[in-house]
Amino acid sequence: MASQRAAAVRRRIDSLTAELNHHNRLYYSLDQPEISDAEYDRMLRELQDLERAAPELARPDSPLRHVGAPPAEGFASVKHRVPMRSLDNAMNTEELVAFDERIRRALGIEPALTYMGEPKLDGAGLELVYRSGELAIGSTRGDGTTGEDVTANLRHNHGIPFVLDASRQPVPEGVSVRGEIALPTAGFERLNARRLEQGLELFANPRNAAAGALRQRHDIDRDRLRALEFRAYAIDEGLPRDAETQADVLLTLSNWGFITSEASRVCEGIEAVVAYHEHMLAVRGEQTIEIDGTVIKVDQLALQAELGELSRSPRWAIAVKFPPQQETTTVTGIEIQVGRTGALTPVAKLKPVHVGGVTVANASLHNQDEIERKDVRVGDTVIVQRAGDVIPQIVTVVKSKRPKRTRKFKFPSKCPVCNDAAVRLEDEVVTRCPNIDCPAQLKNNLRHLASRGALDVEGLGEKIIDQLVDLGLVGRLSDLFRIEAEQLAGLDRMGEKSAANLVANLDQARRTTLARFLIALGIRHVGEGVAKIIARHFGDLEPLTCATREDLETVEGIGPTIAESITCFFADERNREEVARLREFGATWPVNAPAKPILGPLSGKTFVLTGTLEGIRRPLAKKQLEALGATVTGTVSKKTDYLIAGAEPGSKLAKAEKLGVEVLDGDGFSALLAESESADS
Ligand code: IVH
Repeated sequence: MASQRAAAVRRRIDSLTAELNHHNRLYYSLDQPEISDAEYDRMLRELQDLERAAPELARPDSPLRHVGAPPAEGFASVKHRVPMRSLDNAMNTEELVAFDERIRRALGIEPALTYMGEPKLDGAGLELVYRSGELAIGSTRGDGTTGEDVTANLRHNHGIPFVLDASRQPVPEGVSVRGEIALPTAGFERLNARRLEQGLELFANPRNAAAGALRQRHDIDRDRLRALEFRAYAIDEGLPRDAETQADVLLTLSNWGFITSEASRVCEGIEAVVAYHEHMLAVRGEQTIEIDGTVIKVDQLALQAELGELSRSPRWAIAVKFPPQQETTTVTGIEIQVGRTGALTPVAKLKPVHVGGVTVANASLHNQDEIERKDVRVGDTVIVQRAGDVIPQIVTVVKSKRPKRTRKFKFPSKCPVCNDAAVRLEDEVVTRCPNIDCPAQLKNNLRHLASRGALDVEGLGEKIIDQLVDLGLVGRLSDLFRIEAEQLAGLDRMGEKSAANLVANLDQARRTTLARFLIALGIRHVGEGVAKIIARHFGDLEPLTCATREDLETVEGIGPTIAESITCFFADERNREEVARLREFGATWPVNAPAKPILGPLSGKTFVLTGTLEGIRRPLAKKQLEALGATVTGTVSKKTDYLIAGAEPGSKLAKAEKLGVEVLDGDGFSALLAESESADS
């Protein structure tokens, strides 16, 4: 019986060891955790209890005997003179009280002990070595014994002193400082917003963004390195002789020019420690850097030395974790939400789970690229995370727990609200519903139509618009022009007089200009400037609705993105119909003669410019060609007659060659200009 139980314990220890080592590698070497911190801690706890009860069954590669992971390839190794240890964890107040009792027993001290309470920063451990006051080597924790030399990357961060400040306190010849490098929440949000715009993969959390920033080897993102903050908390070499406490250590670090956590507090006795921890938990959301708990350290350095260290962690300190902001749950569905501006956003429906004090049942998957990259499927087990007040995120899919027969999510080609064909413009990450009458966007579009730059309808504010739509009086944009004073008079806060005024204002707004009408349609990328350019060029709406992308690109100031957006808008049958209705109900504008094409020796010829042309900038080259009657567009197509290719031409050259378009280099271009100019005179 007993041996059977021992065999079961051994099996469990073996499997926990293997699993924890696997997750250590994902977390420390690859910055790609697959399980939540909470789950990792639970497993580590279990292993700790088993090993404590049966030390003889502990394996030599037990994760309790070492921390982190060996250094990644591509970085020089740095051997830490003193190992960089981890911390033991207390999960709750009772365990914290037990820690205090254990320590006082070991020291034989009856009365209350003094502790230093510090925030536990959720970043990456770092060692900085200084020689003669100058930064010599910065290294990551690695496996605790050997780390990676990341000095070059650290030099981009101005919060790390290159030279220690000796004006307040002398600086010894050799100094080794330890601390945590982390990405402040504001920087994390800013970098992720930029990545979302650029269609790049989002950082799962500030810790991974920080650890990844340090490990950059090519195309160094300096902005990301600059955004990091290093907070110092220990001196491993060069400790001043008169330093007696951890409080002295923090003061010295600050004197030398390091940032230290302002929220650190001296706590007299364990009750004060518990109060400190609870206080930090309450103000957790107000911190500029994510903290995942507090670290409680015996304040007297002499007592620390007396207590000593275990192989993995010191006896004189303990980390008290906050409830996790990360949890594991399953995806029960994936829905597409349509935003006010028509953006189609995939949202994961989750089996509700408690994360950091709130129940999370939805997580945004941002856009098509993001959902494809993460490959989130219905039925998947995922790690969800809340960071600050940010909407919950799916950090990763636990692929090992994926059930059989799941299906890859297929991004819809239609708007789920109005069924119109969704559009994703070439250079954008967001897929949108282009239908101006889409119910999801109607209120927003009405507000835009009434705004000052568009039709400028006085008296048509948000509250009125909401009522008009909610009461079913307006179901599409053009319904606005059919509204009668009696209908308006029934609305909240609308008397007979103001109803009559609004009808009169609408009547006036109908008589507008082509540019204003175009703005009112809310076509993506068509603001005031662009609307004026196209109104001037086309003179009226018909020629614009028939224009091709190439036609539009010939217009000065209209690039491929705008051209694509406009043609997509008018290609949509519902939009064409709605524009016709708006006109039927009275939208009018003065028609102008379209801008005349210039006649010249290059009339009828279409050019595309690419790469750097020697001696002439592209806008000037374009002007010269146009003065000779040529049309210059931004994209190579079958209709292109010539591609003028300078240095580093990019993809346009390949496309031109594929289509058999004639390609001229800088000299060929000059010759052509000279020839045409002489023909012109
Ligand atoms: S002291 C030998 N103080 O948490 C003890 N560590 O989970 C060294 N950490 O490895 C650690 N904030 O990277 C200490 N105020 C703080 C900390 C802190 C974050 C990190 C550190 C450590 C890990 C343990």
